[in-house]
Amino acid sequence: MIETPMGQYMAQNPGLKYIFFGGKGGVGKTVMAGAASIWEAQQGKKTLLASTNPVHSLSSLIGQDVFGKPTPVEGIPNLTAYEIDTKETIEKSKKEIREKIAWFLKFADIKTKADEFVESATMNPAFEESAMFENMIDLMFQDEYEAYIFDTAPTANARRLLGMSSVYSMWVNKMVQSREEATSLKDLLSYSKKKKEQDPLMDYLLNLRERMSHAKDLLTDDKLTSFFFITLPEALPIAVITRFIGWFSEFNIPVGGVVVNMLIDKSSVKDDSPDFVKNRVAMQEEHMETIWKEFDGQVRSIVPLFETEVRGTKMLKRTAEILFS
Ligand SMILES: Nc1ncnc2c1ncn2[C@@H]1O[C@H](COP(=O)(O)OP(=O)(O)OP(=O)(O)O)[C@@H](O)[C@H]1O
Ligand SMILES: [Mg+2]
Repeated sequence: MIETPMGQYMAQNPGLKYIFFGGKGGVGKTVMAGAASIWEAQQGKKTLLASTNPVHSLSSLIGQDVFGKPTPVEGIPNLTAYEIDTKETIEKSKKEIREKIAWFLKFADIKTKADEFVESATMNPAFEESAMFENMIDLMFQDEYEAYIFDTAPTANARRLLGMSSVYSMWVNKMVQSREEATSLKDLLSYSKKKKEQDPLMDYLLNLRERMSHAKDLLTDDKLTSFFFITLPEALPIAVITRFIGWFSEFNIPVGGVVVNMLIDKSSVKDDSPDFVKNRVAMQEEHMETIWKEFDGQVRSIVPLFETEVRGTKMLKRTAEILFS
């Protein structure tokens, strides 16, 4: 039995501003993010539905091109959707890094081309994730909306994304410390009392630390932030979110609850229904047992398997009604 349904949960947490959906690939994260954003907009909140997912999923979900810039969603007052251009974000990030490295090499009088450093700093998946993460927190800091729904990238990426805010600040602290030591040594060694040099690298690090710590404050504030996990009544998606919920608790990231998606409506199954349908229903029933046990008190909603895929705002509204009932 659902103890606190989604609608009631939202009513109990009226200040929620940052809402995320996580879960295994294909379980309905984008659909639920879309439905939740419509619901928030209908509550009268100025809402942004943003995708940091490097697949063109949002535009096809709402049937409107929302790629590359925040775009008002037709027919839904208060709702803006934005599919972030991953490539552009990464290029912009690379350019910034290139400038910083070039400055540093010049400052340290190292006669090496910046390109090598830039390559090694940017040629890994963590760099892309961190660029997307920065993009997401930029949106949060700009603070132009009253509610933000993020369609997060699937599985392990989400965790790394969040773990990164802790790792980032640790890393930056170390960098700042060694920069401070290097600077004071340089001051000590220089006889001439030159005026203090501008240090863009230090400024950048301090700024980064400040941003990361602010992001962490927002993301770990259970008055503002909630992560919902979506599962199907199937073994693997359940295992994935069980792991997720454990990780997130470790990082003190508020877990709002669990949404079960694509449950087959038993009443539609008759004696003469095909065996594979009956078998699926039996399988789902078994996994529902696990779900009630495993996520005791955390199940917020059960969304049935619809007769078609979920596309367009009309269908999303229907999903939202069920999700928030
Ligand atoms: N309750 C439902 N009934 C029928 N179809 C559904 C339901 N929920 C989601 N779908 C469909 O399932 C597919 C996967 O959903 P969606 O794209 O939201 O998953 P996702 O978790 O975002 O996937 P990815 O991990 O690839 O981003 C889509 O075609 C969607 O329309
Ligand atoms: Mg998706």
